[in-house]
Amino acid sequence: MKTYEKLLLENKAWAKEKVEQDHEYFDRLAHLQTPEFLWIGCSDSRVPANEITNTQPGEIFVHRNVANLVVHTDVNLLSVLDYAVSHLKVKHVIVCGHYGCGGIKAAMTNHDFKQVLNMWLRNIKDVYRLHRDELEMIMDEEAKCDRLVELNVIEQVMHLAKTSIIQRAWKNEQRPHLHGWVYGLKDGLIKPVFEMEAGTHIDSLYEYDDL
Ligand code: CO
Repeated sequence: MKTYEKLLLENKAWAKEKVEQDHEYFDRLAHLQTPEFLWIGCSDSRVPANEITNTQPGEIFVHRNVANLVVHTDVNLLSVLDYAVSHLKVKHVIVCGHYGCGGIKAAMTNHDFKQVLNMWLRNIKDVYRLHRDELEMIMDEEAKCDRLVELNVIEQVMHLAKTSIIQRAWKNEQRPHLHGWVYGLKDGLIKPVFEMEAGTHIDSLYEYDDL
């Protein structure tokens, strides 16, 4: 059997098991999607949003990319954000990074990963530059990388707050609450490192006054 055929076979078994446990499972999900959370996580296969939070289909709206970045010109991410915030009306947006992130490690090197990876990793190098003084005090490479993972998550949450999508929802509906979390591959635990409640003031340069 080919590896991908196993996926299809497992899918059949999973669907059968779900219906056996709850006859209306798929009928209910097909008609309604009201997730309370938007998850912006890393594409890393070891950090599956539903599994590590023990949530079910329908509970978390998910966007994943390399190193969980919020890039203000990324139409993909912004579409997901706008849909989740303006239409699904999620109450929480979670940026979840993870220790040992390959994207973060790559950005700390001087290796040429060629376009387009260089372009993507540049965003992480910018976070490093902003926090160069703090990071270069850390001698242990793994500890330095872990700290950059945390700083990156904090920076991405702040990028969310700079969007008119978030600012409009904050002004009109006092939501969503923004969270920065880091998942540990070694112990499976999530550590909250940052949060911004609706209405938090940011650098006035980024605040829109005609929302
Ligand atoms: Co990663």
